[in-house]
Amino acid sequence: MIVASGTFGFGEEYEDFIDLNQLGAMIPKGISLKPMMGNLPPRIFETEGGILNSIGLQNPGFRYFIKNKLPFYRNIKTHLIVNFFGNTPREYIELAKRLDEVPGISGLEMNISCPNVKRGGMVFGSDPKMAHHLVCEVRKATRLTLLVKLSPNVTDIARIAKGVEDGGADAVSLINTFRAMAVNIHSRKAELGNMIGGLSGPPIKPIALRMVWETVQAVKIPVIGMGGIMKAEDAIEFILVGASAVQIGSANLVNPRTAIEVIDGIEKYLVKNQINHVRKLTGLFKPHLL
Ligand SMILES: Cc1cc2nc3c(=O)[nH]c(=O)nc-3n(C[C@H](O)[C@H](O)[C@H](O)COP(=O)(O)O)c2cc1C
Repeated sequence: MIVASGTFGFGEEYEDFIDLNQLGAMIPKGISLKPMMGNLPPRIFETEGGILNSIGLQNPGFRYFIKNKLPFYRNIKTHLIVNFFGNTPREYIELAKRLDEVPGISGLEMNISCPNVKRGGMVFGSDPKMAHHLVCEVRKATRLTLLVKLSPNVTDIARIAKGVEDGGADAVSLINTFRAMAVNIHSRKAELGNMIGGLSGPPIKPIALRMVWETVQAVKIPVIGMGGIMKAEDAIEFILVGASAVQIGSANLVNPRTAIEVIDGIEKYLVKNQINHVRKLTGLFKPHLL
């Protein structure tokens, strides 16, 4: 069980609510080489059943993260996977190199999928060739386990995943948020300062599930599923269609104990169905009706 980037702060915010040692891995807010201020407020808007955000990758930057945030993770047994991004390919490579030298990091999650920044992020994740080349270069820069986080704002996510796999990624995680917007009919302005943001939460779950299913069939590397997981049953759906692990995102903002409750629920399901390890649940989906 993994908690998704941007929805779990830097972990410390959640230690009063759950035992962080029970999580499989934590992925803190995405970091860049230099600090970033993010987008104009308002940056969060609640939609029916979901969340629209345009944080714009606000973060304190690599140096601050290493000095002030990383020490917190040293006392926790859970794996730390650092989510990172760059505005240019060179920045991605440089950051991967620097993170490679830092002790205490189990893996990297390379974000090529942020929908609400002008440069970086999604630009690299929308084209299979660009994604492939970038992953090739980052792969050379780090020996750490490399996850690549994919954007759903594409026609064929499985093709992107294949390009990323061929570039040397160890796993893909999907999905990031959908480009979306909301309008206030009284002011007639956009609800978000950046106008366009990313939609997450329950409304995106069926699409995320379809994308995970398609990706699982296209690649051999593990697929980490996410998108609208609120409860154990949701997570089980992702695992059944072939996800090797799942991430909990927006649900952390609604109920900080979601990840633990989902772990408990999956355990109960396994016991009830006499399955002795969650790994054996992966891919048990029956694609044919009969
Ligand atoms: C407020 C907020 C901030 C996010 N920040 C990041 C981020 O910095 N890097 C990243 O890769 N994904 C980020 N995401 C995307 C989530 O990690 C996740 O991919 C997405 O929300 C879909 O999962 P969910 O429906 O369970 O939330 C953010 C999502 C939200 C809601």
